[in-house]
Amino acid sequence: MPLVEIDDLSVTYGARRAGRRSTGKAALADVSLDLHRGETLGLVGESGSGKTTLGRAVLGLVPVSAGAIRFDGEDITRADRRTRRRLSQRIQVVFQNPYLSLNPQRTVLQSVMETLASSPEVDRAEARARSLEMLERVGIPPASADRYPGAFSGGQRQRIAIARALVPRPDVVVCDEAVSALDLSIQAQVLNLLVDLQDELGLTYLFITHDLAVVRHLCHRVAVLRRGELVETGDTAAVCAAPAHPYTRTLLASAPVADPRLARA
Ligand SMILES: Nc1ncnc2c1ncn2[C@@H]1O[C@H](COP(=O)(O)OP(=O)(O)OP(=O)(O)O)[C@@H](O)[C@H]1O
Ligand SMILES: [Mg+2]
Repeated sequence: MPLVEIDDLSVTYGARRAGRRSTGKAALADVSLDLHRGETLGLVGESGSGKTTLGRAVLGLVPVSAGAIRFDGEDITRADRRTRRRLSQRIQVVFQNPYLSLNPQRTVLQSVMETLASSPEVDRAEARARSLEMLERVGIPPASADRYPGAFSGGQRQRIAIARALVPRPDVVVCDEAVSALDLSIQAQVLNLLVDLQDELGLTYLFITHDLAVVRHLCHRVAVLRRGELVETGDTAAVCAAPAHPYTRTLLASAPVADPRLARA
């Protein structure tokens, strides 16, 4: 059984508020996609194709217009608040911009511990210990855990955002352009960290990116979105070697073949 099953998913922004069938354009239309345990699924497509919307739908952050999302066999399409709270320990997210996603008024330890706040079985002492351990694992020395985000570089902040996402020990992490804002050399380091953590913790990634070099390096499978529709999905190597859809061919043609910044890895 796939860990996440997306069936005929449609999202039209504003549909609910209008209280009637929206005339707006669908951000996602009839998308069906499975995410298997332990894999990295790359989600690619040009700007506005619906990548972030799909990630947000899995996280329960956008209203679903039609279709269904199942997580570990449970229908979570319209999960209530309480269910979402529970799910938030199992489905986590790393956003593109660590400058926006970390609260500048909180120490990094406070920000990381916060993710465990909705786990009633984890007391404060344990939350603190686990958070320090995870910070250390991602390369942030515990001695600097009481500093504020402003004291850290972009790459370090993204490591902190990763620690925060992983401290509840989630099954799935939605990575939405998680390295796109970083310098190239830092990108490679953070990508390698994500790969190592996946092996150690058995994580499943939904990896949203516009960068096909990153997909080649990191993703077991790839799904291609175009204007809200899924045009192609398959093993990364197979899709890159022999893309079935003309749109995928266009995307590949505009991406560099070899990526020196990742050669080290
Ligand atoms: N909150 C919103 N309200 C209304 N429309 C939105 C909203 N968010 C996204 N859209 C629209 O939905 C479509 C898909 O947007 P989405 O952000 O999912 O694309 P994306 O593939 O993530 O693009 P990018 O690569 O630029 O991040 C676009 O047409 C966008 O304008
Ligand atoms: Mg996006």
